[in-house]
Amino acid sequence: MAGAKLVAGNWKMHGTSADLCEIEAIAEAARALNGRVEVALCVPATLIHRASEAFPGFPIGAQDIHMAEKGAHTGDLCAAMLHDAGAVLTIVGHSERRDAHREDDSCVRAKAEAALRSELRVILCVGESDAERGSGRAVEVVCGQLDASLPGGEAAAGAVPDRLAVAYEPIWAIGTGKIPTTGDIAEMHRALRQRLLAAFGEAGRQVRILYGGSVKPANAVEIFAIPDVGGALVGGASLKAADFLPIVEAAAR
Ligand code: 13P
Repeated sequence: MAGAKLVAGNWKMHGTSADLCEIEAIAEAARALNGRVEVALCVPATLIHRASEAFPGFPIGAQDIHMAEKGAHTGDLCAAMLHDAGAVLTIVGHSERRDAHREDDSCVRAKAEAALRSELRVILCVGESDAERGSGRAVEVVCGQLDASLPGGEAAAGAVPDRLAVAYEPIWAIGTGKIPTTGDIAEMHRALRQRLLAAFGEAGRQVRILYGGSVKPANAVEIFAIPDVGGALVGGASLKAADFLPIVEAAAR
């Protein structure tokens, strides 16, 4: 696994120019860590340009991209546009998009490949539903999702491990305050690591596997201590520097 943990915020559909001060506070604190933790914020597309211009060197990401290079896709944004606006990474396959926008694994894979073909780094999300966890199939389901949505071919060659991260986000833990047991997180990350090794050989050992779902200042230390947790993807607690920075500091320990 790569050395420094990656702690990325996902602002979802939150944030306007009035919130640039939060990004500023986070970017300043991140700079002071001198690379001990990698910090990034995936902000709404409307803020990417302003944030990346205002805080040069601080990684600003998108939350989704279209898989095509360009074309008749009203309302969508391609990798080149987001990169041009200042994004250096993007999330793909978040469960809220898999669900609300009917994105299946092959769509997520195409998006990951499109991002890697451009200059963007990728955080690829996978995670099980409450029912899948309850039926004892969580590992099988999530590993199946990963296998089917991992980028392949030329797009992945050379991009792994540095430009790809995987985020394990149990759907039932997102925004609920519930998190899996440390044993369940460890088991899932171990299983995902095996899939990455199967897909990419030794390079798969270096791909960071983030945990996401109700990560808060109060549970971050415990989560980051779990074997093979290479960072976190943080939703609600990334909106305010006062909540997010204790999580970043926990990752620096
Ligand atoms: P919360 O941290 O709000 O549970 O959201 C997690 C998430 O979906 C990050 O992508």
